[in-house]
Amino acid sequence: MRFNKANGLSGELTVPGDKSISHRSIMLGSIAKGTTAIRGFLQGADCLSSIACFRKMGVEIQNDGDLVTVKGLGLRGLKAPTDTLDVGNSGTTTRLMSGILAAQNFSCRVNGDASIQKRPMKRIMLPLSMMGANITSELGNDCAPLRITGSDLHGIAYDSPVASAQVKSAILFAGLYADGVTSVTEPAVSRNHTELMFESFGVDIKTEGRTATVHPASELYAQEIEVPGDISSAAYFIAAGLITPNSEITIKNVGINPTRDGILRVCEMMGANVKLEAKGGGVGEPIADITVSTTTLHGCEIGGNIIPTLIDEIPIIAIMAATAEGDTIIKDAAELKVKESNRIDVMVSNLSAMGASIEATDDGMIIHGGKPLHGAAIDSKLDHRIAMSFAVASLIADGETEILGSECVDISYPTFYRDLMKLVQ
Ligand code: S3P
Repeated sequence: MRFNKANGLSGELTVPGDKSISHRSIMLGSIAKGTTAIRGFLQGADCLSSIACFRKMGVEIQNDGDLVTVKGLGLRGLKAPTDTLDVGNSGTTTRLMSGILAAQNFSCRVNGDASIQKRPMKRIMLPLSMMGANITSELGNDCAPLRITGSDLHGIAYDSPVASAQVKSAILFAGLYADGVTSVTEPAVSRNHTELMFESFGVDIKTEGRTATVHPASELYAQEIEVPGDISSAAYFIAAGLITPNSEITIKNVGINPTRDGILRVCEMMGANVKLEAKGGGVGEPIADITVSTTTLHGCEIGGNIIPTLIDEIPIIAIMAATAEGDTIIKDAAELKVKESNRIDVMVSNLSAMGASIEATDDGMIIHGGKPLHGAAIDSKLDHRIAMSFAVASLIADGETEILGSECVDISYPTFYRDLMKLVQ
């Protein structure tokens, strides 16, 4: 797909539902008692993979777009799938679902696309095995395809080497089935949607500092869930409104959970014109309308505990940094190397192709801002967040930008290009 420079952006939009919350609503709904009703569910390929996997385990899930209903089978009611559970491109489906599968009374195979088959699974295989799970990598490379045979699980106190909500959640899901208390301590707090949703489904779960502790459950109870707009999707419009001249955009009903709002704190550090209007929202999942307008940004340093709260936004933050005055240093973000693509390498090569001054470091990147961007051929590596970031960059680049593999936005935001183009003046 090809893009050109824009004269300005204006208007308002609502971004699709939060990806993390959508996945969790299917998984918890499937193992709860009763029918869970979900509004605002993200109809992206990743979340549809979660639906497909749980359907294969006998869960009746109706998806009519506006409303998704999940007829839960109870904690121990999932059925053995007749063939491989296909997770597509979704790391969240793979890792969270593995925590559930580890405790079922059947054996199954989990596999996905070429990207999933390269993503590290040892990070969940190790703690789940410590709990008594029988989980192996078919090719012995600690990646999918995985073979999981349900076992009796035991509670553990796990000190996780990575701040990862997928790792934490896999262990917490397994903890529902364990014979004792399970806790996970992270080096920095990652997104807490699992903990919040566990609580609303009636699970005994507590969080203290960097540790989440779950008690075994005997029953989970179906809920009505309203999924807020995904701040990770809103981030592209926040950036677009800030870096494109003559722009003002309002993004409505965005989830601003404090474990996800790092992009807003970076905007503050960069001196961005951002206004928030609080809209209520569920417990722990506050919602706001976000208005942004054109700003000359300045560089900043991003590292430490803020990283897990903006991990998926680093590609678009790098685009903002390329337009900012001065240097931006992003560190403590080595996790970027094991996302849908190696996001450090892919950002450095593509931003360099557009004329930016950027260098990779071991755990992040350094961007010397202010160099004018020009159109280029961008290889998205079929990573949705890379494609969307460079569609935004193209709005301020001279000449034409071509994004290769642009259709990969289907993973998290199928209507992204249409929504963006509606704002262009
Ligand atoms: C997610 C956690 C993050 C994030 C991913 C979604 C989740 O991954 O990058 O897009 O829903 O738990 P990690 O846990 O690997 O950091």
